[in-house]
Amino acid sequence: MAPEAVLLLVHGFPLDGRMWEAQVEGLADIRRVIAPDLDGHGSRRDDAPGRSMDEIARALAARLDAEGVDAVDLGGFSMGGYVVLAFRRLFPERVRSLALIDTRAGADSDAGREGRNTMAAGIRERGAVVAAEAMLPKMFTDAIDQDVKVETERWMLDQPPASLEADLMAMRDRPDSTPDLPGIDVPTVVIVGAVDAVTPPSEAEAMAAAIPNSKLVVVSGAAHLSPVERAADVTAALRAHLGG
Ligand code: MLT
Repeated sequence: MAPEAVLLLVHGFPLDGRMWEAQVEGLADIRRVIAPDLDGHGSRRDDAPGRSMDEIARALAARLDAEGVDAVDLGGFSMGGYVVLAFRRLFPERVRSLALIDTRAGADSDAGREGRNTMAAGIRERGAVVAAEAMLPKMFTDAIDQDVKVETERWMLDQPPASLEADLMAMRDRPDSTPDLPGIDVPTVVIVGAVDAVTPPSEAEAMAAAIPNSKLVVVSGAAHLSPVERAADVTAALRAHLGG
């Protein structure tokens, strides 16, 4: 029988729910895993994308309502982590546990905001390829299987440029979630690729230190996209976190 408890996994930028394929399959015996495409992404490309982390979080809550799901185990990768932190702030009673994967709690720096504007302008001009050119080199270590890299690039090129622009603006304007961390009162795992240069282990260590009931897992042999590059290790860390 399929498990009733739900694990909701939120994808990062410039991706969609396909990045969680390994975890959806690998955790199916202990959770009903929902790894949705956010509005404006992947299979939901025709829906208007959320304009802020709160808007994206509210849209996810509405989807859970529609499925009759109340509280969930919640996980997010990178931009998905920003969404998850917004979701927990808005709907704390709906979060059973938290997994923060290759993400950070802080807001963008001034230079970071400028970088968002530059990338958004590039995407307006040349399309999703600009996001792929910027992000693909940061996703994996040199040891990655080339087929996996090509597949990941395909996911990136698949995203509507207007949605990627909306993601960038939502990330640029997201609030600092650092003050919320000490108030997180559910079991939390913070997972990070050992050589993640986008959201480095120092960020993960700081989050784990600030969240009372948390555990830090550093995944060796992974850069930013650890749920894909070291899929089995990330699945195992989530399984341990979920008590499987
Ligand atoms: C992501 O991987 O979702 C984004 O690169 C995160 C970010 O740019 O802050």
